[in-house]
Parts: sequence; C-alpha cells; structure tokens
Amino acid sequence: MDLSGLREEYGRGGLDLPDLAAEPIEMFERWLRQAVEAGVHEPNAMVVATVSAEGQPSSRMVLLKGFSDEGFVFFTNQASRKGVELAAEPRCALLFPWHPLERQVRVEGTATVLPDEDVTAYFASRPRGSRLGAHASHQSRVVASRDELATAYAEAEAAFPDDVPVPDEWGGYRVRPEVVEFWQGRPGRMHDRLVYHRTGPDLEAWRTERLAP
Ligand SMILES: Cc1cc2nc3c(=O)[nH]c(=O)nc-3n(C[C@H](O)[C@H](O)[C@H](O)COP(=O)(O)O)c2cc1C
Repeated sequence: MDLSGLREEYGRGGLDLPDLAAEPIEMFERWLRQAVEAGVHEPNAMVVATVSAEGQPSSRMVLLKGFSDEGFVFFTNQASRKGVELAAEPRCALLFPWHPLERQVRVEGTATVLPDEDVTAYFASRPRGSRLGAHASHQSRVVASRDELATAYAEAEAAFPDDVPVPDEWGGYRVRPEVVEFWQGRPGRMHDRLVYHRTGPDLEAWRTERLAP
C-alpha cells in the first residue's frame, strides 16, 4: 500500500494568541463543543499515554467522562496495564484527535485516583451490560479464549441478578494538566500550535506561546 500520496491540505480555520481563552479548560470546552456540533464520531474519545517503570511508553483510547479546572476525568480498571503504570508514574499525556476539524488537543499532566464516591456514582450510571463486563474482565491480563470471557460474564450475571456493585479493581483518574496544546491545521503545513503552560507562584496561572509547526 503506497501511502506517500495520502495527505490532506488543511484550511478550515486559524488560531492566534488573541483567540485563546484565558484558561485552557475554557478553550478546551469551546473546541469540544465545536467537535460535538460538527458531528465528530466519539468526540470525547482520547488517547492516554502512560510509561512503564522501564520507560516503555504505551497508549490507548479511553472516553473522557468529565472535565473541570481540576482536570480531565476517565474511568478504567486500576489493575490494567495503564492503571499499574499510573500507580508507579502518574505523569501521563492525553490526545484528542479531532480529524474532521483538522484539530488536535494535546495535554501533559499528572493523574490522581478519583475518590470512591465519584467512581460509585459513575459506575451506577453505566448500562447493566457494561457493569457486568467490568466484573468479567480482568483488563489487560491474558485470557485463554473467548469462551473464558463468556463464562466469566455469565458468572457475573448469575452473581448479580439485581444491583451490580463496583468491582474492587475498577476506578477512575483525574489528569491535572500542566501543558495544553491547541493545534489547528493550516495550508502548506504552516499549522497553528498554541500552548498553555502553568505559571505563577502557585502554578494556578497560565502563560501561552506559539510553537513552529
Ligand atoms: C473509543 C474507545 C473508547 C474506550 N474507552 C475506554 C474507557 O473509557 N476505559 C477503558 O478502560 N478502556 C476504554 N477503551 C479500551 C482501551 O483502549 C484499552 O483497550 C483498555 O483500557 C486496556 O488498556 P491497557 O491494557 O493499556 O490498560 C476504549 C477503546 C476505544 C477504542
């Protein structure tokens, strides 16, 4: 398959420092809303990159389930590969790939484990099938066959005919951003890259800069 000619010329819009909101979360909300309005498929899907104790990076998609000045929230199995890696090295990166808008948002930050009450509240909002699946799947561990998974799911169904409790392994993280980049594709590969960095004595203020594409 020849990929050398496979490229897009970007020209949907531009982004300049005066266009930026004072805070990256406000800017993120603006762009996320535009992604939703544009009909981007799974606009809240983001890539989470973690790093192992040996320095091996890995990445995977998860769904953003909330955001605020405190950071970006997602839910997962804390005994999964990403969970184990975040326990040892909470610094991580997020990426929102909004291709139809010729945009990406990149975040670097530090993950903290969400309090139990947030996890319980979100878990209760999930469909029954997803809650049972969380019990049946010891995420990231080797399974012998699809049958093994099906059996575990059937066992969870039988064990929890009514309420499905939060599995011990299950939880969530909030990634407090340190750096947030807003990227807009431009013609001739002269893309806009505007980046927020934390600054000030208590690191609660933000400075911005433009990077070369
Ligand atoms: C669009 C999309 C959304 C996903 N959302 C989640 C999620 O919110 N939480 C999760 O644990 N896994 C989610 N997954 C599955 C993960 O990509 C991944 O396979 C799983 O979390 C195991 O990753 P790990 O072994 O690196 O820990 C999603 C996958 C896709 C493609």
